Amino acid sequence: MKPVLWKDNKVHMVDQRRLPTEEIWLTYETAVAVADAIKTMVVRGAPAIGVAAAYGLALEALTFEGTRDSLLSTLEAKAAILEATRPTAINLKWALDRMLRFARKSSHSDVKELCSALVKEAQEIHAEDIRLCRTIGEAGATLIPHGAKVLTHCNAGALATGDYGTALGVIRSARDKISYVWVDETRPFLQGARLTAWELMKEEIPCRLICDNMAGHFMQRRMVDAVVVGADRITANGAVANKIGTYNLAVLCRFHEIPFYVAAPYSTVDLNLSDGMDIPIEERDRREVTHVGQTQIAPDNVPVANPAFDVTPPELVSAIITERGVIKAPFAPGLAELVEAAGR
Ligand code: MRU
Repeated sequence: MKPVLWKDNKVHMVDQRRLPTEEIWLTYETAVAVADAIKTMVVRGAPAIGVAAAYGLALEALTFEGTRDSLLSTLEAKAAILEATRPTAINLKWALDRMLRFARKSSHSDVKELCSALVKEAQEIHAEDIRLCRTIGEAGATLIPHGAKVLTHCNAGALATGDYGTALGVIRSARDKISYVWVDETRPFLQGARLTAWELMKEEIPCRLICDNMAGHFMQRRMVDAVVVGADRITANGAVANKIGTYNLAVLCRFHEIPFYVAAPYSTVDLNLSDGMDIPIEERDRREVTHVGQTQIAPDNVPVANPAFDVTPPELVSAIITERGVIKAPFAPGLAELVEAAGR
């Protein structure tokens, strides 16, 4: 279920805009083309866009001819284009910074050797993300009670990562204990209805698709035992940027005394920010709100707001599930330790 593949020195990505009705794979040969794929949501989900961006730089390295200095400036210029595609998920910048740091620090004096090493580094970013997702899954499964009904929002699954998923990784690892998964449709882009429902059905994990505004109703009837979501950026104190609508769920969970869990690897943590309100929130095209698919559902020219993410304050987060285990409030020491242990 890997959404991004490196094969025959090219990047292949499943077009997530077309799922679940069509499974179409597209091929990319330049960083600029990969940037366009990220911008247009062929690939989406914080860790997956980091992996795609790293491969984007690997493509440039592969075809590069010139001096080491000009390689570095080429990579920096392409990294800037890739980074500008989506502002909220820090994994994108994290992966690009890691590739650039690798290139700058590398002891390879031969440029060709350095370029092959850069391809390997991108592959390692991908492989590492898969390992982390599996460990996050195992850690998170311990929090899920037997017979639980678990609600998730957006898609934090295999499609949003290298493979396996963060929030869906927890659900995959706990599948024998889960009675069924509530899948929020996740307006306006419908990642829940299109992608999460598709992933769960493919693996025969029982699920029920609901509209976003139904979650409170089922919580009130004690039909939700836990909420598990992914994250696009977590600040040093544990504020969580994730798909728009996540904050609503966290508030509902507090009122109904339901645990609200966030699952994410170290690459999602941004220790440079201490206030969730400083996280840049991507504003997306008005058409996502005025239309469902090709069908217009709102009057012509109606003014629209379309923030793609919201921020849940740390007070509403029951725990952050990471590859180094479950972090509880106060989050700052555990998050700092997580990043330090990764050594990157
Ligand atoms: O706009 P998207 O589809 O890229 O948003 C994705 C999310 O909000 C996910 O929950 C988040 O990136 C975590 S993915 C493991």
